[in-house]
Amino acid sequence: MKPVKLTENIYWVGVVDWRLRNFHGYMTQRGSSYNAYLIIDEKITLIDTVKAPFCDEMLTKISAVIDPSKIDYIISNHAEMDHSGAIPELAKRIPNVEIIASANGEKALKEHFKENFKIKSVKAGDKLNTGKYTFTFVPEPMVHWPDSMVTYLEEERILFSNDAFGQHIATSERFDYEYSLEIIMEEARKYYANIVLPYSQQVQRALKDLSGLKIDIIATSHGIIWRQHVSKIMAEYQKWSSNEYKKKALVIYDTMWHSTEKMAETIASAFSEKGYNYRLMSLQDNHISDIMTEILEAEYICVGSPTLNNNMLPTVAAFLTYLKGLAPKERKAMAFGSYGWGGQSVKQVHEALESCGFTMLEPVSFKYIPDEEFLKTLREKVLAAI
Ligand code: FEO
Repeated sequence: MKPVKLTENIYWVGVVDWRLRNFHGYMTQRGSSYNAYLIIDEKITLIDTVKAPFCDEMLTKISAVIDPSKIDYIISNHAEMDHSGAIPELAKRIPNVEIIASANGEKALKEHFKENFKIKSVKAGDKLNTGKYTFTFVPEPMVHWPDSMVTYLEEERILFSNDAFGQHIATSERFDYEYSLEIIMEEARKYYANIVLPYSQQVQRALKDLSGLKIDIIATSHGIIWRQHVSKIMAEYQKWSSNEYKKKALVIYDTMWHSTEKMAETIASAFSEKGYNYRLMSLQDNHISDIMTEILEAEYICVGSPTLNNNMLPTVAAFLTYLKGLAPKERKAMAFGSYGWGGQSVKQVHEALESCGFTMLEPVSFKYIPDEEFLKTLREKVLAAI
């Protein structure tokens, strides 16, 4: 792929990672991209870089525009290695390059790479003039790392947003009007649910910080660049970060002999009777990162597990650990499951959901195979509780 022009002097020089399928536990079934941007001015600037193994591919793109040794500044919006991985190699090849980062970014880059980089740290509102362009820096700590920062280029009305507003999509297309908006939004939602969700309060602050800026382009560091749908993705971030949920229930379970599954189906049909949209999601068939995408807009989270060796099933334990880390707020939850003798799983699931701060419904368990009479009682119990 060649560099892609955003405007006359600004180029996408990132790389597409077609093969990426797992981003620390998040299933990236559509791959991803690491977007870096080259800005040609009297002083030449690179905004963010790529994962280390892709450094040469990025340099080939930069070389199609200018000699990479002419780069004066690297703005490192975020030290996570999908964006900073190529910095040590670039610093070797361009000894006088100056790296610009937030104060936390400076610390993180030094701690990551143990190199004596030439770094200048910036704070909120600091500016960098490169000739006809002026960059303004807006640190946004914990969206989603302590060092995270966005950079605004006023003359072109471009926000270089790093991870914010990103999506894990590998495509040859770069702009939102070139690709299915439905898929972009689906992946943006998944990205929010699996990466940004725990920092929703900080996202609210960031949206306030950005509200005064005129933004024509959001140049993300993953996936598609927003150009026609800037206000749409900002409105979605506003909604997702506000903990708004729909009349929607998720029934998530694993099962050994279909007994917990029978309970899951009964619970789901009770929600349906009450007019809820619902998703019945077996942990055998659904990846936890796809379940999180559904949870983003769900009011109820019901989780079922049979008991195996005095514990919940490992699939359920893994899901609950992931859920707790992503910390959705103000949800209602319920534990359920079948058992043979010990029956510890339902209590464990209940406690795990309670520790997420959810409002808990009464847990429900049943020995061996649920019969019609029990399922009828379960249905009535759920109908009465929701
Ligand atoms: Fe895309 Fe937080 O790195």
